[in-house]
Amino acid sequence: MAILKIAKLGHPVLLKKTNEISDLKDTDLKKIIYDMSETMIDANGIGLAAPQVHLSHRLFIYRNPDIEEEEKIKVSILINPQIDKISDDTEDDWEGCLSIPGMSGLVRRSKKIKYSGVDLKGKKISGEAEGLHARVIQHEFDHLNGILYTSRLADKRAFGYSEEIEKFWKKNDEEKS
Ligand code: NI
Repeated sequence: MAILKIAKLGHPVLLKKTNEISDLKDTDLKKIIYDMSETMIDANGIGLAAPQVHLSHRLFIYRNPDIEEEEKIKVSILINPQIDKISDDTEDDWEGCLSIPGMSGLVRRSKKIKYSGVDLKGKKISGEAEGLHARVIQHEFDHLNGILYTSRLADKRAFGYSEEIEKFWKKNDEEKS
């Protein structure tokens, strides 16, 4: 396994629409997913899409915050995914991205979604997600279409260095609630 180099904001690979994966038996794919998992865990991320490691494939991996037990990391894979919103309800919350290190933004996402795709063996995966789980899937799915969270800010001003956001935005949120 290997830790891959992560593409950072400004790299054109992050803005490109990815290609469907037609050959799941391609041995490289298994290695790519192992390496992506190692890279995501090393970088302390909860999701990683192929373009972030310079690969224009329609796949991402993520950690499901709802089902993880303490200290046990479970990595989920979604190949050739599709998502649909279940309702028009949206939710604003803070996001970061391994391709935009050190920064955070307040992003508007669908509250509840349906997702589907296949795993490495070609087995169909589908489910519903809400809250943080739904947010992670939408964020990673956007990467496959060359979209970064910075183009989905709930408020254009709500973006900046995480330490300033912590100090000036999140603190205010807590005081309000
Ligand atoms: Ni990201």
